[in-house]
Amino acid sequence: MKIAVFSARPYDRRFLDEAHQCADLAEPAEFLYFDAFLDVHTAALAQDCAAVCVFVNDRLDAPVLHALHALGVRAILLRCAGFNNVDLATAGQRGFFVARVPAYSPEAVAEHALALVMTLNRHTHRAYNRVREGNFMLDGLLGRTLHGKTVGIVGTGKIGLATARIFKGMGCTVLGHDPYPSPDFPPIGTFVALEELLARADIVSLHCPLTPDTHHLINATSLAQMKPGAMLVNTSRGGLVDTQAVIGALKARQLGHLAIDVYEQESALFFQDWSGEIIDDDAFQRLMTFPNVLVTGHQGFFTAEALQEISAITLGNLDDFARGRACANRVVAA
Ligand code: NAI
Repeated sequence: MKIAVFSARPYDRRFLDEAHQCADLAEPAEFLYFDAFLDVHTAALAQDCAAVCVFVNDRLDAPVLHALHALGVRAILLRCAGFNNVDLATAGQRGFFVARVPAYSPEAVAEHALALVMTLNRHTHRAYNRVREGNFMLDGLLGRTLHGKTVGIVGTGKIGLATARIFKGMGCTVLGHDPYPSPDFPPIGTFVALEELLARADIVSLHCPLTPDTHHLINATSLAQMKPGAMLVNTSRGGLVDTQAVIGALKARQLGHLAIDVYEQESALFFQDWSGEIIDDDAFQRLMTFPNVLVTGHQGFFTAEALQEISAITLGNLDDFARGRACANRVVAA
């Protein structure tokens, strides 16, 4: 069975090929790897393929789904947990099999959230450069002790829980907000309303999915409700945060620090090398001018262990499709 793998980086090829060697599939897979993102212009690359294998910034809107269907594609295999980039209603109408990887080392993302917080709080990125230049001055590197601070976790699912456990272990008070409260959270922290979480937390970390309800969950109003000088961390999806509102809150000194691994307009930037080019995204470039902003390019998931799991689960989903059997990771429109 031919599978068109979009947004395929060398590490995707390596881990998918390694997992394929160990997998016991109904039908061997023949992966066709494409660097390109999937969109209306590149959908034709999936000619003769039964499935496409895609990542976070591939676009599976109605025109793309219609084009894929016309080419004979019947399965969409997401190499990620989020599925906000798939028009599920259209996919359902066209009878597509859509499956995701719901969990792959939630700790990998939680640990990255911690790395962002620690870097920004203790300025280790600046210290690294200073010391290499022979500058051992401490001015400008002042941080805050996290022990005893309050951390608010928005979305207490798998990654939110893993993040909550880490901060609890560091001696922080942990608050959580989730419309579907997990029974695993109360031993770690206290559920509160979002407004209370924003008002009390020194660090607010976002771990809920991007849906129409959560789009711009962090906006001018919610930023004004945050404790002055607090840190906002987003390792979930860029659309949760209104970038212009965040820029305003940083300029007003209301928001103390911003650490993001995801960005609203990331599909035009991330997973590509623009180092020799002029970047046209003025909002992103404005963010880059703040000393209290740290951005990484959607690498929260990026550990060897997580990539092994993503590949193995993706092949399992493919096998469920090939055998026509029930798939626990199938995604359908609500
Ligand atoms: P999950 O499904 O286990 O947990 C999500 C939680 O958010 C659920 O408990 C849900 O009830 C809650 N939620 C839904 N609406 C909410 C709202 N309005 N307010 C607060 N909570 C709400 O998902 P998981 O595995 O923890 O992943 C969370 C997100 O992390 C994913 O949706 C994905 O966007 C992102 N992610 C980012 C990665 C990265 O590399 N940066 C890698 C993997 C996931």
